[in-house]
Amino acid sequence: MKPETNKRIGRYDLVTPLLPCKDLILAKFEKLLMSGQFILGEEVRLLEEELAAESEVADAVGVASGSSALFVALSVAGVRPGDEVITTPYTFDATIEAIVLLGAVPVLVDIHPHDLNIDPARIEDAVTEKTRAILPVPIFGAPCDMDPILDIGRRFGLQVVTDMAQAWGTLYNGRPIGSFGRMSTLSFYPTKNLPGIGDGGMVFCRDQEDAERIRRIRGHQAVRMNGHLYTGWNSRLDEVQAMVIRIRHARLAEEQRDRDQVAAIYDSYIPPTNRLRTPNGGQGMKVTYHQYWVRSGDRDGLRRLLDSHGIDTGVYYDPPLNHHELVEYCRVQGRLAEAERAGAEVLTLPIHAALPFADAHRIGALVGEFLAGSVASTPA
Ligand SMILES: Cc1ncc(COP(=O)(O)O)c(C=O)c1O
Repeated sequence: MKPETNKRIGRYDLVTPLLPCKDLILAKFEKLLMSGQFILGEEVRLLEEELAAESEVADAVGVASGSSALFVALSVAGVRPGDEVITTPYTFDATIEAIVLLGAVPVLVDIHPHDLNIDPARIEDAVTEKTRAILPVPIFGAPCDMDPILDIGRRFGLQVVTDMAQAWGTLYNGRPIGSFGRMSTLSFYPTKNLPGIGDGGMVFCRDQEDAERIRRIRGHQAVRMNGHLYTGWNSRLDEVQAMVIRIRHARLAEEQRDRDQVAAIYDSYIPPTNRLRTPNGGQGMKVTYHQYWVRSGDRDGLRRLLDSHGIDTGVYYDPPLNHHELVEYCRVQGRLAEAERAGAEVLTLPIHAALPFADAHRIGALVGEFLAGSVASTPA
C-alpha cells in the first residue's frame, strides 16, 4: 500500500497520517475560528462522550495534558501529602512528577521482563500503612496484568489509577485497559497513537461523581472530599485539539491495522526472547504498539548498525527513574534489576501508520541478523 522510500527512516511521521484528513481539519478550523468558542465547547463535549463510550466507563473529562490528567486524577483519588503511590520506574518522568506535585511519595517497584510493566508479584511487599494508590503504566501500549493489581487494591483498600498515556486502544482480557480501576489517564501529545496537534489529555472515570469533581477542578473550582479541600486550577482542553483528535479517532482503526502489520513483520524476524511476549490479539489482549521494542546485550551496537543503514531508533528509559533527580522524593523498593536491564538493553524501532511494509521487512531482517550474530555492528 505504501511505497518504499530511499530516505532516512524516522521514528515517527507526524504529518503523512494527517494528509487524508487535512481538508476536513482546515474546514472545521475555519468554522471554529469564526465561532469564538475556543475552549471546552461542543468538540470537547463530543470527544468526551465518544471516548468514554469506547473505554466502557461512566464519563471522561478533557484536560490540558496527560501530565495534568495524572495530577487531577490522583487528587480526586484522594492522594494527600505523605501518602505513598506504588508505580513503575520504567516510565516517562510525568508519572512520578504528578505524585511528587501532590506531596506524595512515588514507590518504585521493579518490572517484569516479558512486558516491561510493573511486576504484580512485587507490589504487595511495597504496601505500607501509608500506601494510598497503585499507578500501573501500560508501557508502549502493552497491557499490564490488571487482575492481580486490582486484587491487591481490593485487599489493601488502595485506589488503582492507570496511566494509559501510551495505551489508547489497548485491551486486557477483552476490555479497554482504561476501564479497570477507579480512573485512568490519557495523553494526546502529537507522538501518541491518538494524537492532537498540541497538548491535551483526558481522565476516564468509572464513577460519575469523580468526573464531576474533575470538571470543577479543571475550571478553577475547589473541591472538598473526605474533609479535605483540593484546589482548582486551569486544566482545560481546547476545541482545536478536540476537533483534530475526533477526526483522527475516526481513522484510528485503519492506522492501528498498519501498526499491527509492522509489528507482525518485526516479530517474524525477532526471537520472542528479544521482544514483547504479550500476544497481540490472543487471550483477549490487544497491544497497540506505541513503541515496538527489541532488547539486546549490545543495544548500542545494534543502534549503530541501524543508524549506518539510515534507520532512526529510540532508547527508553535509560536510566530508569530510580536515577532521576526526583528519586530524592521517592522510595525505591528493592534493586529494580529488571528496570535497570531494560534501560540498558531496550531499543525501539520505527513504527507508525506511514511506515512502508518493505521498510519494516528491511529493518526486521537487519535486527534479526544482528541478534543471530551474523552481522557485526559498526565501531563506536
Ligand atoms: C507514560 C506517560 N505518562 C504521562 C505522560 C504525559 O503526557 P503529556 O505529555 O500529555 O503531559 C506521557 C507523555 O509522554 C507518558 O508517556
